[in-house]
Amino acid sequence: MLGSLYGLARGALFTMEPEDAHEFTLRMLERGLYPRDTTGNPPELAANIFGLSFPNPIGIAAGYDKDARVPDAVLGLGCGFAEVGTLTPLPQPGNPRPRVFRLISDKGLINRLGFNNGGHAAALERLRARRPNGIVCVNVGANKDSVDRAQDYVRGIETFYEVATMFTVNISSPNTPGLRDLQAPAALDELIGRVMAARAALMAAGKPKRPIIVKIAPDIAEDDIGPITERLLAHAVDGIAVSNTTLSRHGLRDPKKTEAGGSSGRPAFHRSTVMLAKVYRATGGKIPLIGIGGIDSAETALAKIEAGASLLQLYTGLIYQGPGLIGDMKRGLALAVRRASARNLSELRGTRAAEWATKPFEI
Ligand code: FNR
Repeated sequence: MLGSLYGLARGALFTMEPEDAHEFTLRMLERGLYPRDTTGNPPELAANIFGLSFPNPIGIAAGYDKDARVPDAVLGLGCGFAEVGTLTPLPQPGNPRPRVFRLISDKGLINRLGFNNGGHAAALERLRARRPNGIVCVNVGANKDSVDRAQDYVRGIETFYEVATMFTVNISSPNTPGLRDLQAPAALDELIGRVMAARAALMAAGKPKRPIIVKIAPDIAEDDIGPITERLLAHAVDGIAVSNTTLSRHGLRDPKKTEAGGSSGRPAFHRSTVMLAKVYRATGGKIPLIGIGGIDSAETALAKIEAGASLLQLYTGLIYQGPGLIGDMKRGLALAVRRASARNLSELRGTRAAEWATKPFEI
């Protein structure tokens, strides 16, 4: 039902320039004009992760609600958690438009937005104005012209500590020049060291522990996966989000594939799932992973869990399938649990990680 309704809405949305269509849907969500989820939360999908109770493992990925305009609507769509950002300390316009491109024949997108956002202060005001409800993750980043990028992340943690349930440290956007260099083991040590020290200081002052997740790219060189995950574990980060958009254009057919930026959606599924499984194996399943990249069905969602994810996020799939996808995924995942004679989705975590981790990044 929802799927066929969205089929009509999608036709209209796809006549608009992608960013205009996105702004239109955000305004609908802000006005409460969206289909409420009626699936509920199958008990098989409930999970305690990072010490937080997730009613289900599905979330909408960062970049959808950059300025914290609609976290409650995202929860109302049936998600188990919301994520806002990436937020940088100062507002910044991002790259010139057009900067988001639909790759319709590939069911993908390319974006080179470049962290366009209204900055910390405006988002903080919005988050302070809402009644605390559900899990809201704040995704923090650095301004393009910042002289001390690590300090921008620290400021993000400090600024949003009172309103966030958890944080994502985004060091993997391909659209801020040099940002992904922060993933190099030495730079990572300095950055994550400062971020974790900032949290430790807040906790020493009596504040609760807010989980910190580090979001990485799917394009990390194979030889760097070990050193990077080793540094993340050494700093005791709470989780790793795998992954951001990819620079790879492998397998794309749409003529827009020549646009610069990060690619997402169906073409990113394989690479990001292989990376997820490699990170799962490198971390020995010790910390939760958020599986992101090309999820557009219950089957692809299940594959991420089997490759090692504890939580899931999607963005591009929502553009092509509409919000009914969230309920479809919940029903499909609950069914998969029952079919496997398991009691909870967590029992399926990593069951096919060995298989995924040995696949080549490109097929
Ligand atoms: C993104 N993504 C993203 N990630 C992030 O950490 N901060 C951000 O601000 C953004 N912005 C953004 C904008 C747009 C238009 C897209 C399509 C994506 C990446 C996103 O969170 C996710 O990691 C990837 O898109 C892969 O997931 P999907 O889209 O294949 O489900």
